[in-house]
Amino acid sequence: MGRIFAIMSGKGGVGKSTLSAALAEYYARRGKSVVLLDGDIGLRCADLMLNMQDRVIYDLGDLAEKNCERSQALVQHPQWPNLRLLAAPQMIHASDLKKKEVGRIITQLSEETDVLLLDAPAGVGRGLKNLLGAAAEPVIVATPDDVCLRDAERLSAMLFEKEEPRPVIVFNRVQKKLVRRGEMPAPAQMAQALDLPLMGVIPESPNIYRALLRHQSALACGDKKVVRAIEGLAARLLGEDAPLEAYASSPVLRFFTRGGEA
Ligand SMILES: Nc1ncnc2c1ncn2[C@@H]1O[C@H](COP(=O)(O)OP(=O)(O)O)[C@@H](O)[C@H]1O
Ligand SMILES: [Mg+2]
Repeated sequence: MGRIFAIMSGKGGVGKSTLSAALAEYYARRGKSVVLLDGDIGLRCADLMLNMQDRVIYDLGDLAEKNCERSQALVQHPQWPNLRLLAAPQMIHASDLKKKEVGRIITQLSEETDVLLLDAPAGVGRGLKNLLGAAAEPVIVATPDDVCLRDAERLSAMLFEKEEPRPVIVFNRVQKKLVRRGEMPAPAQMAQALDLPLMGVIPESPNIYRALLRHQSALACGDKKVVRAIEGLAARLLGEDAPLEAYASSPVLRFFTRGGEA
């Protein structure tokens, strides 16, 4: 049985789908068999991010309702054949899906893949709960601001009510300059405050949005720091050793920042 990672967040728009697509592509490039399940029911996006929008005919809803074969719902990536996408239904609500059926699909997929990535909807609603029936490892994505941190804390508290597996945290859109100046909290401190293991720190980069405009994943964004950060995250998730760059605040810069404000 392969690993199942549920990429989730309390707040929306923090980069879950961006990171899910990039991780899926990265693992496939490394020769692993990967399925990316777009779990954001009604708000399908992974197909666009992977430039597979013209290939999707059936989706998770069709598979759950047995309107198609599994091979029809799992769409192969044109460039990375090890990567298959299971698209989110667009015309139904999360409550229309049976949690048990989704759980069965996830378990079956995990038996035939090395890595199954669940791109979850934001929040702690029914859409997320549908995906958590299976033994997915929760990966919480957050941006370094108080609103998002509060939502991450709530999500983490909900996950801790379940026995296992324990969540980990990834900070996205981190700006080294702001961290050094003490304007943005350091990822290690935020992880400590949330009491979650820090799995990755992804820098803010305008190239990521430009890649999205081209229907390419963040791995193809051309920003080496982003690519290195995603590769590191992917490796650590699999339990491999990969150095995590320390984004720490500088006492000197903090002093000047405070001085500038006075
Ligand atoms: N590290 C980053 N730097 C800059 N923009 C980013 C970064 N990560 C994500 N984005 C942008 O943020 C937006 C929301 O990302 P998305 O992955 O759709 O979030 P979610 O799935 O959590 O709702 C997208 O436009 C994406 O290009
Ligand atoms: Mg999303």
